[in-house]
Amino acid sequence: MRTEPLSANIPLLRVLAGETLATPPLWMMRQAGRYLPEYRALRQKAGSFLDLCYDPEKAAEVTLQPIRRFGFDAAILFSDILVVPDALGQKVRFAEGEGPQLDPLTPGGGLATLASELDLERLAPVYETVRIVRATLPSEVALIGFAGAPWTVASYMIAGKSTPDQAPARLFAYQHPELFGEIIDRLVDATSSHLIAQIDAGAQALQIFESFAGALPPSLFRRWSLAPVGRIVHRIRSQRPGIPVIVFARGAGVGVEELAQAGIADAVGLDWTIDPWRARDSVQKLRPVQGNLDPLALLAGDDVLAGAVDDIRAALGNGPHIFNLGHGILPQTPIAHVEQMIARVRG
Ligand code: CP3
Repeated sequence: MRTEPLSANIPLLRVLAGETLATPPLWMMRQAGRYLPEYRALRQKAGSFLDLCYDPEKAAEVTLQPIRRFGFDAAILFSDILVVPDALGQKVRFAEGEGPQLDPLTPGGGLATLASELDLERLAPVYETVRIVRATLPSEVALIGFAGAPWTVASYMIAGKSTPDQAPARLFAYQHPELFGEIIDRLVDATSSHLIAQIDAGAQALQIFESFAGALPPSLFRRWSLAPVGRIVHRIRSQRPGIPVIVFARGAGVGVEELAQAGIADAVGLDWTIDPWRARDSVQKLRPVQGNLDPLALLAGDDVLAGAVDDIRAALGNGPHIFNLGHGILPQTPIAHVEQMIARVRG
């Protein structure tokens, strides 16, 4: 008897294994979120955003909402990149209408306030969410686990909030490179454990979000982004072989070519500023790619959206491609535009 690989019937995993499909698998970053009325309704009942992240039944429901409505090819765990600092003892708060807030790490304080290891008990509800979702999803829909990359997460831990150009963390990296390196090392360990726990609960692919790659000059990008992300992927490959990792380094520019050449990512996420024709020759010939519709083209809809979808399909359709946005969907995006995008991609 011939045994089929596990990915046989799962389009997203087939593309991650290097296959080119006539119709690319499709999902959207931030597909569970505020543009959906059913999300807003459940969010109101849930208390704080983090309460929702740590409530397995509700978080699973929110993860499944966009799959039920749109039939995407992948579900992404509903959670946040900041649960990692939260579970390292640097408590995170999300105030209504504002971004995240943490008590900033300081050069004087060092790592004293951080736990040496991730509190897996605190994160148990997240892994329970993964289990519930996997047990409920149709078998052909892939479940993606995720985490933030160390640099992006460190930028919140140092500034304590969202900052333009991540200036506080960048300055910290220049002025206190040794201590900064210790923070990054701690995050490499914690993030690897967090991703492996998601795999063990049922995640079939992973995405690492390096949302602030664009703030780093090339030498810092190599040192504080490519190298630590590479260490995380190496650990996952050695401890849980066969689970593909998508790396989304927003704003990396030609850095995505280095990412592909270095063999760090199994697939390379492209933000909307990347020329898909250039990416076809420089990235997609090495690795499957994911992306890269401008979220504002989705918001605009109609002819703008149709043209933008067609351009991406023309450039990337002859190689392994996962259709996605070039960053998260905006809360004010009409549902009808999402439906238009899906119809255009699937023909
Ligand atoms: O993609 C998905 O649907 C999965 C869920 C997911 C969320 N955040 C839910 C969320 C994922 C993958 C993330 C990742 C994340 N979180 C990133 C990296 C991706 C990116 O967008 O670049 C970052 C930087 C964060 C940190 C974060 N979380 C911020 C800055 C904020 C506040 C800003 C905002 O958009 O409101 C959040 C909150 C957050 N995370 C929301 C959601 C749906 C909105 C909170 C709410 O519903 O009240």
